[in-house]
Amino acid sequence: MKILVINGPNLNMLGIRELEIYGRESYPALVEFVEKYCAEVGVECKVFQSNHEGVLVDKIQAAYGVFDGIVINPAAYTHTSVAILDALKAVQIPAVEVHLSKVSEREDFRQISYAGMACQKTYAGFGFEGYRMAIDFLLGK
Ligand code: DQA
Repeated sequence: MKILVINGPNLNMLGIRELEIYGRESYPALVEFVEKYCAEVGVECKVFQSNHEGVLVDKIQAAYGVFDGIVINPAAYTHTSVAILDALKAVQIPAVEVHLSKVSEREDFRQISYAGMACQKTYAGFGFEGYRMAIDFLLGK
């Protein structure tokens, strides 16, 4: 099983940005958390982050025929990007949406998720743990 974990804009600022919402742990700590869990469950994974919408679209397209599952936290692009939605639909790789924060309890503009429309499941508000839950879902656990 090969899983691509994609993180969108400003997630590289974890541990610096809005600590009361996203916590004190850094982005490298998130990457380590995901890689460690994948190794534990025997999943080959690649963790990727970009602040650029087109780069995220390119990465999803390049996953076609290569990865068996996608875990995606599109960050702010969740609420704006039809391009990411279309890319996920194009490749038809089983995808799971993750958000560190509980977006359903936040601002109105965060209440729509375009990417989520192409995902089989969403985990929001569980912090790093949401990534583990998403991997488990893709593993059928
Ligand atoms: C986020 C939630 C988004 O609304 C926000 O723009 C982010 C992070 C989360 O993980 O909680 O950057 O995706």
